[in-house]
Amino acid sequence: MSGRRSFIKKSAFTIAGSLLAGVNADGRGQRFLKIKNVSDEDAFWKEVRKQFPLTHARTYFNNGTIGPSPYPVLEAVRLKMEELNALGEYKGQEDSRKPLADFINVPFHEISLTHNTTEGINIIAAGLPLKRGDEVIMTSHEHAGNALPWLNQKKLKGFKIRIFTPADTADESLNLINDLITDRTRVIAVPHITCTTGHLLPVRQIADLAHDKGIWVFYDGAHAAGSIALDLKKIGCDFYASCGHKWLLGPSGTGFLYVREEMFDIVQTEFIGAYSDTGWEISEERQTLSGYVPDAHRYDYGTQSAALSNGLKAAVAFMNEIGMPLVESYSRGMATLLRNNLANLDGDLEILTPEEEISRSTMVTFRLPDMHYRDFGELASENKFRIRLVPESKLNAIRISTHIYNNKDEIDRFTSLVAKVIRR
Ligand SMILES: Cc1ncc(COP(=O)(O)O)c(C=O)c1O
Repeated sequence: MSGRRSFIKKSAFTIAGSLLAGVNADGRGQRFLKIKNVSDEDAFWKEVRKQFPLTHARTYFNNGTIGPSPYPVLEAVRLKMEELNALGEYKGQEDSRKPLADFINVPFHEISLTHNTTEGINIIAAGLPLKRGDEVIMTSHEHAGNALPWLNQKKLKGFKIRIFTPADTADESLNLINDLITDRTRVIAVPHITCTTGHLLPVRQIADLAHDKGIWVFYDGAHAAGSIALDLKKIGCDFYASCGHKWLLGPSGTGFLYVREEMFDIVQTEFIGAYSDTGWEISEERQTLSGYVPDAHRYDYGTQSAALSNGLKAAVAFMNEIGMPLVESYSRGMATLLRNNLANLDGDLEILTPEEEISRSTMVTFRLPDMHYRDFGELASENKFRIRLVPESKLNAIRISTHIYNNKDEIDRFTSLVAKVIRR
């Protein structure tokens, strides 16, 4: 079978229709997903790129910080804002919950809608019954969003945090975790994919190891939802937090927290409000809270943005239209291409992202021993690349993120820039 035909088979290849419904009233609809019978894989991804208002004036390699939204997402937010303000209503904040739950393969009642990853992490770190003498295992490569909630609870409750540094292979990382486990370990709270070096940890094996010993497992999934096909039931963790605004390409101000059903009454709700409760009364006679709703919605409270929820729903639909296996293989392919290019350069360069395929995904981090990382950052910016510097864990490195809007030409141009620098 020719390369083209096998691609068509793989991707279904005709993307049209459903995302357009209702979003093209102002004539800009031609720019929305309308990819029909394009002739080959290159043409397909060029059409995908056209869905993004993302400027062509520079190359965007910083999806790991913030993902640019495509037109269908922007339109979904705008239309919902208009609709609600026309009607004076506020309904719709729930609308992303079901598509999101399906997207990560968990039941509707195990998903709480948050505003970002950090909020979900705080709910778990604060809600678990941890005390002095308990131990939590984390990495030395945490983002502030995972580090601070646990450090804060450590300060308040006096438990201990034990640290490992993600290793080059999944087996080694697993062994390091195993070595840290004691009979006081209560939680393993690590990133699914690290923000520093893009290490993808062996989440299924970590969950199995932990559960064998009665330890709870929390994953900071900021970099996984929308970059890899995510199936939380297969991973088997107890809690998982992520956001809409990175790899899902949804709006900022959206996120989710997965809590396994059996944990609802173990994770105390530190904050509650409208929609969290099963009934309450506050009067001169009675001051009662009868209980919490019997699902993860107990961790949501108050009014949220229906417009952003609609945007997140559109982001999930956009990903589903292309198909997560294809999104993942393309974005990973771009990162692999970059990693291979860098590895083949002549000159001094240290790649920090593991070589082992199962231990990396859509980010590549490297260091230039002969150039300060901030100087390289300036040079990259002058050459119209938006990259991310990695000062975390004193790595002083450079991180490149790749997603569906990037292409081989961008990877090659960036490789040439690095090649020039290390040949100086
Ligand atoms: C690994 C990791 N965890 C947590 C966060 C915080 O995410 P949010 O801004 O959604 O709270 C980030 C943000 O970059 C991150 O990279």
